[in-house]
Amino acid sequence: TQYKIAVAIGSLRKDSFNRKLALALAHLAPSDFTFEHLEIGDLPLYNQDDDGNQAPAVKRLKTEIAAAQGLLFVTPEYNRSFPGVLKNAIDHASRPYGQSVWGGKPAGVIGVSVGAIGTALAQQHLRNVLAYLDVPTLGQPEAFIQNKEGLFDDKGHVSDASKQFLQSWMDKYVEWVKRHNLAKLA
Ligand code: FNR
Repeated sequence: TQYKIAVAIGSLRKDSFNRKLALALAHLAPSDFTFEHLEIGDLPLYNQDDDGNQAPAVKRLKTEIAAAQGLLFVTPEYNRSFPGVLKNAIDHASRPYGQSVWGGKPAGVIGVSVGAIGTALAQQHLRNVLAYLDVPTLGQPEAFIQNKEGLFDDKGHVSDASKQFLQSWMDKYVEWVKRHNLAKLA
């Protein structure tokens, strides 16, 4: 079985540390996992008036999520929450009412920030939203990464200091995604 993971990155910044973290995490996954980054930067602002006529970018987003066996949210913290661009994408893919594509997709939540509590509050807000959308989200281990010089090596892999921890996080995430997909087949 191949597991396709839809990756939502909460930053649109070209040199985003969270984008780097997402790429580095993919290196820690087994070969039956592939990671596809969702484009959320070209989505219009969500407007309920458009529910009956979703923009092509919204339809594309929903198609990619629907085709995935799992979700990975890699987000910075903006003002003690997750960024509005990510909420916009989540809202789009949850609508029209009754046609959300989120429900039942196993997810992991992780992030890196410059602050010492490294995205903890952003992740907690995101978990609240995902719970409502019926997205089973890995609870442990939690991963709050503070960005420090040398977090990534020159190949874009996580450097030795963080590697063991992030590998154990990835192992649990992989197990979580597999377990939920098996449950669906049963
Ligand atoms: C931040 N940053 C930040 N960091 C944090 O740990 N807690 C916070 O509440 C905030 N708030 C915040 C608001 C806004 C509007 C910006 C632009 C930034 C700093 C943030 O962690 C830093 O910019 C990261 O580098 C953002 O992640 P990317 O873009 O590198 O992935």
